[in-house]
Amino acid sequence: MSERIEMNEAYDARLLPILERRSIRKYTDEPVSLEDIDRLLQAAMAAPSASNRKPWEFVVVTDEDLLRRLRRRLIFGKHIAPAAIVVCGNTRRAWPGPGRGFWIQDCSAATQNILLAAVALGLGTCWIGVHPVGPFIKAVKRILGLPRHIEPLGLIYVGHPAEQKPARTQYDPSRIRWQRYGPADLGADDLDKGADGEAIE
Ligand SMILES: Cc1cc2nc3c(=O)[nH]c(=O)nc-3n(C[C@H](O)[C@H](O)[C@H](O)COP(=O)(O)O)c2cc1C
Repeated sequence: MSERIEMNEAYDARLLPILERRSIRKYTDEPVSLEDIDRLLQAAMAAPSASNRKPWEFVVVTDEDLLRRLRRRLIFGKHIAPAAIVVCGNTRRAWPGPGRGFWIQDCSAATQNILLAAVALGLGTCWIGVHPVGPFIKAVKRILGLPRHIEPLGLIYVGHPAEQKPARTQYDPSRIRWQRYGPADLGADDLDKGADGEAIE
């Protein structure tokens, strides 16, 4: 097991690259190299996407003034980082019809790949949610000049970490069912109906 981590319980060391990912909100002034930004984007675009439509687009922001304007509008994203990657969905490339919302999962998968790749590169990241909060979407679109069909899902701050957090899982066995929910999981009103109102067979 890695010596970098403190953990209460022993977990399989093969999971460490995932358990070591934490939201880092303090960064040094050191810029992130263009090579590392490129590696993060390679990881992003290795993500799965519905029907492999790859509806993502990325805006890399290192300009101080743009970062300052984003901080001013994202009230939960005021962290000072040397770079941000804004993960966007191109709704023209998204699935048509009932699957059109899959761009959100596709872009979330790309986002998580960036967070995990950053751990491997020794970088810190923090995911700042934008979609589906109307005022955040509007502000990011305006500040970055995004056209109508480019929807910002979220912003990832990236930098060299100036804080350390222990690896951990938040494993909770009460969140797991095997095979299906049983009567003990349901309230009296739910006993004869599924979530869609159909009678349970
Ligand atoms: C969709 C989403 C939106 C988030 N938005 C913010 C945010 O606006 N500001 C922030 O500091 N962290 C944000 N986070 C990070 C969470 O606060 C963080 O993942 C959570 O507290 C667990 O901590 P960990 O990332 O260290 O495991 C967001 C995470 C997700 C997945």
